[in-house]
Amino acid sequence: MAQQKQQLAPVAPNRVAENKAKGSADADSVREYLETQGSLDMLRFITCGSVDDGKSTLIGRMLYEAQMVFDDQVAALEADSKKSGTQGGDIDFALLVDGLAAEREQGITIDVAYRFFNTDRRKFIVADTPGHEQYTRNMVTGASTADVAVILLDASQGVLTQTRRHSFIASLLGIRHVVLAVNKMDLVDFDEATFTRICGEYEAFAEPLNFTSITPIPLSALQGDNVIQRSERTGWYSGPTLLGFLETVVVREDIINTPMRMPIQWVNRPNANFRGYAGTLAAGQVAPGDDVRVLPSGHIAKVEQVLLADQVLPRAVAQQAVTVVLDREVDVSRGDLLVQADEPCEVSDQFDVSIVWMSDEPCFVGRSYWLMLGANRVNATLTDIKFKYNINTLEELSSRTMELNDVGRASINLDKSLPFEAFATNPQLGSFVLIDRYTHATVGAGMLNFALRRSQNVHRQALAIDRSSRAKLNGHKGKVLWFTGLSGSGKSTIADATEQELHSKGIRTYVLDGDNVRHGLNKDLGFTETDRIENIRRVAEVAKLMVDAGLVVLTAFISPFRSERDMARALFDEGDFVEIFVDVPLSVAEERDPKGLYRKARQGELPNFTGIDSAYEPPTEAEVRLPSHELEVSESVALVLKNVDLL
Ligand code: ADX
Repeated sequence: MAQQKQQLAPVAPNRVAENKAKGSADADSVREYLETQGSLDMLRFITCGSVDDGKSTLIGRMLYEAQMVFDDQVAALEADSKKSGTQGGDIDFALLVDGLAAEREQGITIDVAYRFFNTDRRKFIVADTPGHEQYTRNMVTGASTADVAVILLDASQGVLTQTRRHSFIASLLGIRHVVLAVNKMDLVDFDEATFTRICGEYEAFAEPLNFTSITPIPLSALQGDNVIQRSERTGWYSGPTLLGFLETVVVREDIINTPMRMPIQWVNRPNANFRGYAGTLAAGQVAPGDDVRVLPSGHIAKVEQVLLADQVLPRAVAQQAVTVVLDREVDVSRGDLLVQADEPCEVSDQFDVSIVWMSDEPCFVGRSYWLMLGANRVNATLTDIKFKYNINTLEELSSRTMELNDVGRASINLDKSLPFEAFATNPQLGSFVLIDRYTHATVGAGMLNFALRRSQNVHRQALAIDRSSRAKLNGHKGKVLWFTGLSGSGKSTIADATEQELHSKGIRTYVLDGDNVRHGLNKDLGFTETDRIENIRRVAEVAKLMVDAGLVVLTAFISPFRSERDMARALFDEGDFVEIFVDVPLSVAEERDPKGLYRKARQGELPNFTGIDSAYEPPTEAEVRLPSHELEVSESVALVLKNVDLL
């Protein structure tokens, strides 16, 4: 039997952008491993359990008993067990698995560790994730590619909150097969009634989760019962051992006989005579002569050749990484989806989604994130949070935000239509991650449930008079001058003076001012983070309409968050959005205190006041910076006009 043990930790799936650099090294190791093991069937599984359920011991026991550990590792393990083990000098299998120094020091497992091993029947990739509640995101990372979840519990404790949480996340992430590993049976004298009671309780809970199979196994990881060897102490049990189950469970649903889908990873164009489209088939098969459609464009072509490296294939099937050559020049780029011409999938820019929130910063309706779906990166905004789950009871709780580890249901809007498949049909084509545009951290993982019909039923109306005809009539272009800064920084004063100057030159203008707009269009909004995001979203949309109408729009809003200022900028053509940072120290604004609001805020009478107990994120790339405390108003106006080209 081959002896293998490799450890990669911590690691996220390679589609998680923040770990790109790190992930590529890991991806190399995975590839290397798979190449050496090419001929064996492969099973990916995840182990989930609470801290003391004996998870590390179980994995360590499996690797050790199946002789999948190198001899030198065994020697080191025996030495370590004597030194820092918890088993009185006997081998502490947990030490084999808790490989990271930090884990050992804390006595807990953190982050996700991937291990590879194989038996004569199958090769395995196991994702080991910790059980702490704050690490839901790690479980999501590990579970997103798993075929089977091994859910561990302690026989003396039964089904716990964590057991339910893990099962729910496993089902959400599309895992169809669950092993209920009832561990520590030695603590309950291998009592059948205890085992049966736990199984009954679990099955009742898991019913709505619709797993294809639930396989309960009575175990003692510590003493080795039913891990690999059938135990004499559970004579009443006739099911498989854990490894026996993992070696034989059939998990590959038939993705070969479903319509062909191939996301394009890259366009291979080594010279002018060759153009191939490379990617891994996500479903179905492809062969020369097949009619295919390129999505989202919809162009149709015939497959001329299918290549696997230098080899010409008569046919390729799901999960093979191939290059496809088409019979004619069509526009195909990275991120496009090649599909069977007569069975295309949907294309949409609005979706109902399930989301697991993974960031310490809550998520807000209206805020914009990057969404990565396969090789595509688009701007995405949550337009609605419908509810979040109580993960323990599966109850739906109404909520406007989602916090770290929350799982919920939302609507999402993309700035570009993408071809997709519902997660339930094809997890690879229906799952995405959300990325913070500034820190580039992965903040959420999501699943596309279905496209919202609205996007298909609302169409743009083409009009004869366009922006350029209006600009011609006016004698100048439309633009937006976006003033941002603290309350009392001088935004309204400078915007007012700038408008007068422009007006006197015959330019059509309009000032959108925070205090004024909040008396009408936005009178339903306050100053929470959610409301400020919505305030700026509406103002940006109104400014866009006004610019389209040919006006020079001056907006004077605190607009404290970078995200929303960037969202506003993204609505306009390059050069039409001029960001003007009215930059005064808080002390200056507070001293001016034109409306007496800083005083009130300091006295605790005005919560969420910008600069006091609500953040202001200064622009990093504003076109104009006005330190208004060092300039006359006329100097500020001159600086603004110098930076605005209206012709
Ligand atoms: S923004 O943050 O959403 O962009 P906006 O510019 O519309 O704010 O409104 C800011 C104005 O509202 C301030 O100039 C001030 O007069 C008033 N205001 C009332 N409460 C607050 C508050 N909590 N924080 C900031 N401004 C407030």
